[in-house]
Amino acid sequence: MANSDGANIAHIIAIWCHILGIALFVGPQFFLALAWVPVSRGIADQSVRVDLMRKLTRRFLYLGGAGLFLIVAAGSYLISDWRDYYNIGDDASFTSLRYGVVFIIKMNLFLVLLVALALHSFVVGPRLVDRIEAHAKGGATPAQLKSARMASMGLSIAGLLIALAMMVLGVMMNTTDFSLRAS
Ligand code: HEM
Repeated sequence: MANSDGANIAHIIAIWCHILGIALFVGPQFFLALAWVPVSRGIADQSVRVDLMRKLTRRFLYLGGAGLFLIVAAGSYLISDWRDYYNIGDDASFTSLRYGVVFIIKMNLFLVLLVALALHSFVVGPRLVDRIEAHAKGGATPAQLKSARMASMGLSIAGLLIALAMMVLGVMMNTTDFSLRAS
């Protein structure tokens, strides 16, 4: 049975919010890693660099937080509505279709992503900024600075790769000729 226009419009709005959230959450991560980090190395005055770094990363937390909110709100609607939207009866269990299996993998990755993000935002990132500041004043060794930088880079790359993998999994779910087949 075909969906009503109302159901289709709700689905379109939810997918739009989901994608807008992803743009807000993933876009600034690419910007910070590929634009800000290399460019900021050229700022000679370390106190200016550290100050800008703190301000930019705080802005990222607001933007990325708003993005995450949109992702989770729209994603929750989409998963609560999937049986109605795709006309799947209760006789098919969630994991009997690829849709359910892919969703479970996606949510597990999401948990890992949240842990990496929290570690980066509240532990590793602030430690790196502190070390850059301390190093400029002679209070941290180059080795300490390097280890903080490596930890930060590792978490950034892991977070970005997980987000990209989750996007693939989301698109797999939405490609119903693939996802609504037996798992
Ligand atoms: C609580 C977290 C999340 C939930 C509950 C969720 C749920 C969903 C659901 C149910 C769909 C399929 C929609 C459909 O069948 O039409 C979907 C699609 C998608 N998801 Fe998520 N998702 C979440 C987080 C994320 C994250 C963190 C990303 C990427 C960073 C992501 C990327 C995508 C993409 C790219 C699509 C395909 C959108 C399209 O069809 O164009 N999701 N999500």
